[in-house]
Amino acid sequence: MTSAACSGLAPNALGGHCGHMRKIIIDCDPGVDDASALFLGLAARRELDIVGVTTVAGNVGPALTARNACWVRELAKRDEVPVYAGCARPLVRPPLDARDVHGASGLGGLPVGVPAKGVEPQHAVAWLVETFRKAAPCSITLVITGPATNMAAALAMAPEITAALDEIVVMGGASREGGNITPSAEFNVYVDPHAAAAVFACGVPITIFSLDVTHQVRTTADIVTRFRASGARIPALMADLFAFSNTIKHDVLDAPGAPLHDPCTIAYLLEPSLFTLKPCSVAVETASAIAMGHTAVDFRARQGQAMPIKWAVQADAERFFAMLLARVSAL
Ligand code: BDR
Ligand code: CA
Repeated sequence: MTSAACSGLAPNALGGHCGHMRKIIIDCDPGVDDASALFLGLAARRELDIVGVTTVAGNVGPALTARNACWVRELAKRDEVPVYAGCARPLVRPPLDARDVHGASGLGGLPVGVPAKGVEPQHAVAWLVETFRKAAPCSITLVITGPATNMAAALAMAPEITAALDEIVVMGGASREGGNITPSAEFNVYVDPHAAAAVFACGVPITIFSLDVTHQVRTTADIVTRFRASGARIPALMADLFAFSNTIKHDVLDAPGAPLHDPCTIAYLLEPSLFTLKPCSVAVETASAIAMGHTAVDFRARQGQAMPIKWAVQADAERFFAMLLARVSAL
C-alpha cells in the first residue's frame, strides 16, 4: 500500500485509530519547547504509543539534544521509551544552533543532570528505516519538531518507508507571520531547507504547525503562574522553562509571552479540535540567500495541483494550556 492510500484512513483524531493507541515517533532537538512537547507526549500513556524518540542537531549540538531527550524522558519516568541520536548536521547547509534562545544547555536555566539511561547504540536514521520497513502500512505517525534532517536522510536511504506512515506532523515554516530567524524563514526549515523540501514532498499526508499558529500560543505571565501554582513536579519545571523563554527578546514583540511552538504538534494528536487547518501546497526555498528556508504556502486550488498539506491557521490557546497543564500534572 502506498502512503497516498492512507489518506482516506489518516484520522487526524485518535478516534480514527479505532480505540487503539496511536503509534508515534517524536523527532526533535530539545530545546525548551521540544521538552514541553516530550512531556506532553510522554504523559499521554493511554493515547500515544511512543515507539521511539529520535534527536537531531538543531537548537543545540547533537550530543546535547540527545542528552536532553534522555533527561526529559527520565524526569517523565518513561525510561522504557528508546531514544536514538541522529544527524549531527544538516544535509547541505552549515550547522546553525539557537543557543541564544534555548540557553547553552538547550534547556534554559534548568540544572540538567546526567541521565541514568543514555541513547540506544543504533543511529536514528538506521532505526527509522528499520522501524518503518517492519511496520504495517499506515501504522505510524511521525512528529518532527526540529530540522527534518533525520527523516530526509531516511527517505534518501529507503523511499519506500513512506508506506508505513499515516501522517507526518511538523512544527516548522511561516507564511502570514513572517520568519523568526530571517524575515521570511522559520528556524527549523531554515536550518535544513533541503530536508524540509524532501519531507514535504514525500507523499505522506502532512500537517504543519508554523509560526502562523504557534505565535497564538504564548506563555504569558498568567500561564507561568498557573503552571507554577499547580504544585505538581513537571508543571513547576515547565514554568521555569516558560519563564526562561519569556526573558528572551522575541521576534514578535507586540504580544506578551514567548510562543510555545513544538507542543502544538502533540496537542493536535490528542485534541485536534484545538486547531483550525486549511489544505494547501507548500514549496520550500532552497536557492535564494535572502529567502533561504521560506515556505511558500498556496491555499488556492490550482488546476491539476494537489493540496497535500494541512496548514494550521488558528489555535484555541486557552483550551490548549488547560489541556497541557492537566496532562503534564499527571506525570
Ligand atoms: C522552532 O525552532 C526551535 O528553536 C524551536 O524548538 C521550534 O522547534 C521554532 O521556530
Ligand atoms: Ca524544536
